[in-house]
Amino acid sequence: NEIKIFCPATIANLNCGFDVLGLCLEGIGDEMIIRKATEKGLRITKITGADLPLDVEKNVAGVAALAIVNAINPDCGFEIEIHKKIKAGSGIGSSSASAAGVVFGINELLGKPFTRHELVDFAMKGEALASGCEHADNVAPCVLGGFTLVRGYNPLDVIKIQSPSELYAVVLHPQIEVKTSDSRAVLPNTVALKDAITQWGNLGGFIAGLYTGNYSLLGRSLQDVVIEPYRQKLIPGFENVKNAALDAGALGSGISGAGPSIFALCKGQDKAEKVAYAMSSSYLEVGIAFDMH
Ligand code: HSE
Repeated sequence: NEIKIFCPATIANLNCGFDVLGLCLEGIGDEMIIRKATEKGLRITKITGADLPLDVEKNVAGVAALAIVNAINPDCGFEIEIHKKIKAGSGIGSSSASAAGVVFGINELLGKPFTRHELVDFAMKGEALASGCEHADNVAPCVLGGFTLVRGYNPLDVIKIQSPSELYAVVLHPQIEVKTSDSRAVLPNTVALKDAITQWGNLGGFIAGLYTGNYSLLGRSLQDVVIEPYRQKLIPGFENVKNAALDAGALGSGISGAGPSIFALCKGQDKAEKVAYAMSSSYLEVGIAFDMH
């Protein structure tokens, strides 16, 4: 009647897949405890690690929980405890972790009436409260694990993507908050055809690289000519850290989700450690505190 859940952080976009690609991380995530209650309805009983509303309808986890509970109208209620470790506005899927965690937990306590793919849809409702629009590129990998591709939104069509075993992600999180809504507001509404061609070539190349374990193809495909030029201005020191990651041998580097976190993908743990060192050394010069994951 009680479940404790690890709700992983995620990296969305991965340069070439704005709003469609995402990756689940192992090393960082929130914790959530959900209990069945005899009294119907939802109650958020405790939140640690962040200053978030206990009011169900104003809380990302609350809204996602309402979506799944309203779909099934169970004969019981739920109490939710949220222990945040992922900072809000960090660019590694803080709100998604809450949304995905709660729907996963409730589904388990109800005897799994929904498939994992169906859970993504409910979680997206919570995520929408945080970002102002429904996108699934963080919640999908959080629920399904590994890499995921949102093939389409209408109807939601999420595909879990195979990936090679030696791929490591490094994340540098500058301690500034960038709201997803602000980070979306700087983007243009149209994309030049030549940039679209570059971007979908890279997205196809990236997916092919994941399936074939071709690390050099993954590296070549980790480019972003559509979003990064606009968003990098919101992240002090971005270009230096990215170059430091590439010089240290990362396959590619870019903005994690809506930022300000900066990610790098690497082949092998040794390389990832070298890249993490190079990125953090380069960021020391910026003078803003940061975390490494
Ligand atoms: N794809 C989204 C964005 C992820 O980049 O705006 C942020 O939650």
